[in-house]
Amino acid sequence: MKVTKILETMDYGTAPESSAAALKWIEERGADFGLFINGDFVKPAGRESFETHNPANNELLAKLCQAQTDDVDAAVSAARGAQAGWESMGGAARSKYLYAIARLVQKHSRLFAVLETLDNGKPIRESRDIDVPLVARHFYFHAGAAVLMADEMPDHQALGVAAQVIPWNFPLLMLAWKIAPALAMGNTVVLKPAEYTSLTALLFAEICQEAGLPNGVVNILTGNGSVGEQVVIHPDVDKVAFTGSTAVGRHIRQAIAGQGKAITLELGGKSPYIVFDDADIDSAVEGLVDAIWLNQGQVCCAGSRLFVQEGVAEVFHRKLRSRMDKLRIGDPMDKSIDIGAIVDPVQLQSIKRLVDEGLEEGGHRHVAAGDCPSEGSFYPPTFISEVDPACRLMQEEIFGPVLVGSTFRTPAEAVALANNTRYGLAASIWTENINLALDLAPKIVCGVAWINTTNQFDAAAGFGGCRESGFGREGGWEGLYAYARPSYQSTGEIEVITPPQGSSEPVEGSIDRTPKLFIAGRQVRPDSGYSTPVYSSTGKQLGFVGQGNRKDIRNAVEAAHAARSWAKSTAHLRAQILYYIAENLSVRREEFAQRITAMTGAAIESAKAEVDLSIDRLFIYAAWADKYDGAAHGVPIRGVALAMHEPVGIIGMLCSDQAPLLGMVSILAPAIAMGNTCVVVPSQAYPLAATDLYQVLETSDLPAGVVNIVTAAHSDVVETLAGHMEVDSLWYFGADGHSASIERASVTNLKRTWVNNGRSRNWQDAKQGAGKEFLRQATEVKNIWIPYGE
Ligand code: NAI
Repeated sequence: MKVTKILETMDYGTAPESSAAALKWIEERGADFGLFINGDFVKPAGRESFETHNPANNELLAKLCQAQTDDVDAAVSAARGAQAGWESMGGAARSKYLYAIARLVQKHSRLFAVLETLDNGKPIRESRDIDVPLVARHFYFHAGAAVLMADEMPDHQALGVAAQVIPWNFPLLMLAWKIAPALAMGNTVVLKPAEYTSLTALLFAEICQEAGLPNGVVNILTGNGSVGEQVVIHPDVDKVAFTGSTAVGRHIRQAIAGQGKAITLELGGKSPYIVFDDADIDSAVEGLVDAIWLNQGQVCCAGSRLFVQEGVAEVFHRKLRSRMDKLRIGDPMDKSIDIGAIVDPVQLQSIKRLVDEGLEEGGHRHVAAGDCPSEGSFYPPTFISEVDPACRLMQEEIFGPVLVGSTFRTPAEAVALANNTRYGLAASIWTENINLALDLAPKIVCGVAWINTTNQFDAAAGFGGCRESGFGREGGWEGLYAYARPSYQSTGEIEVITPPQGSSEPVEGSIDRTPKLFIAGRQVRPDSGYSTPVYSSTGKQLGFVGQGNRKDIRNAVEAAHAARSWAKSTAHLRAQILYYIAENLSVRREEFAQRITAMTGAAIESAKAEVDLSIDRLFIYAAWADKYDGAAHGVPIRGVALAMHEPVGIIGMLCSDQAPLLGMVSILAPAIAMGNTCVVVPSQAYPLAATDLYQVLETSDLPAGVVNIVTAAHSDVVETLAGHMEVDSLWYFGADGHSASIERASVTNLKRTWVNNGRSRNWQDAKQGAGKEFLRQATEVKNIWIPYGE
């Protein structure tokens, strides 16, 4: 027999990893686990148990405790009790515990990996070489972050108690992504693992004991979704961090609306994998194996939509199918297995249903040739080509080893196809032309872009998405800010200002003038055709303002949308225009001050100070426009991860009555400096400050539609803005209690929100009224991974 023939016919031998140590670990604990509360494992009387199985063979692994309301209360109370001590010991002291945890994860890495594979069904190769090393890395990175917190994040403190709910696809890794930054910043946590995969979280609890972590700093409650719900809505929780399905993410956003909790949501995805005709085809095929078949495709950022440029589609698809046919499916404990088990029969059924129903709309299915075990929850790698962009297969997250694809001709078409989704998590771009790749990465709506690579993760680089993939980042500095609050934040209640009332007697010497709305660079009449009188503090009529309604808001959003090329203008240009606005405002300083005095009754000197500060703010953000740089992260690849600051998009703003000019300028300036377009609803009590300002904007070269001003009662337009699918973020600084309804209505497109929850803000204060907090709110961080070298 020839050597080539031998090589062709040679099969893999089995290389099973032993599960003995992990099964012994389970057995020694009676295969029946309690909850981890205040440093101890407890199983209070009367608690029900549920089972966790090995999805590869359906065997029972252990029984877990279904936590009840009392347990949730006990865990939150333990976390609360431990928080002050944990925070006050300081970052350096906290880091020692985080280092200890990192080392212990490494020490017990084999046990963690085997346990994870038994419980989840992922190949041991992946849990051993990807999940567990990334977990250790996460704790090391955040140990360092704890040390640096005081210097690098001045004026920041812990949020308090964090409620964290995680999914089953990367059970231990998601735990690390949640717990490490929370602890680094001085928070304590109550974490609920997914019901299918709780075992490694319980082993982690033992690690916390071994590391001597103070009691109550980490608490782990097992149970179903209702336990998750009770944890997140608990009134004594300050922060909610959730990873899982978009449906549950939405539900949580609504359930905690108005509770004043910080929230980050890492949800689903349907990420594009784009291959240009000049790509290294073999590498791109191999990358695709990682993109869609890592963890059986049960990955939120899986490259599940393949778009290949027409010229190479045939060859690419041929190579892909032939590579698929060589994938080995089977026992996840076998070290040479590529595809393990689906986490649970329920998920398996869901994949089957989505594929079968989806195929009714068309598409050509190729199923990997490898044998699929008949026992256990297995689904073969599948590629469905020629799928139309609008089909369910292209739009729905299948969350399994199923790739769908179509072709494209031009880069513009690739971008259009990539963005034709309600999600916005990740993207992979394959081309040998770096110019093309770097042109595309910013155009794709996502939080992470991988160039000639895929599924790269590191603690130093933030991860997260936009649109229905959620908001917030985990990892990197941005992930740390998600667990901290500014210590200068006011805790006082916002004062409600009743607009002055009065008679129809006009202010002496005033000329009757009714300012209009300012939409798309034009002064337009309100749709309602009505206007509202504005009175001076002495009860005389100062003028009228248009009564904006939901139609005006929609027009303003449309104008803001049309002006989105503002994001692509140079930072230099944006800075110049902000300087120009500042200069034009200075010219009219006296007039603006008099108007503020007339409206608010403030002394003229303090009104002048407000105008001067507004001018300062414009100068500050003009300065920041070209200086709020991103970062080049030193991630452990031969390459770089660029953290780019991108504008959020269209920001809706409901302005404060306190300091009507300054309150508006302080939010408008950072938003436009960062390239956003805005729909501004001015102070209700003193709206003329805003209508005066649009005259300044009109003469300052600001492109039409970048700033749109709709005078309106906040309650008339707040729901329209909060629910609008095109608005990417909504900021609320008003005093009439709309924070909760904004957070509730924001779930339509899962927009970011920044609301005051009834707390005051001193706009005159240099910290409360200006600074990086505003810039962070005005930007999204996109991490673009660029490997280099031949
Ligand atoms: P899920 O979103 O229901 O579960 C994730 C976690 O949330 C689990 O710990 C669960 O107990 C908890 N949970 C469920 N309902 C809750 C509630 N009302 N309040 C608080 N916590 C709650 O996801 P599931 O049902 O396991 O999977 C369904 C689909 O979700 C998958 O097919 C996939 O499409 C998607 N998914 C996406 C993930 C991602 O990383 N983006 C991870 C897991 C699932």
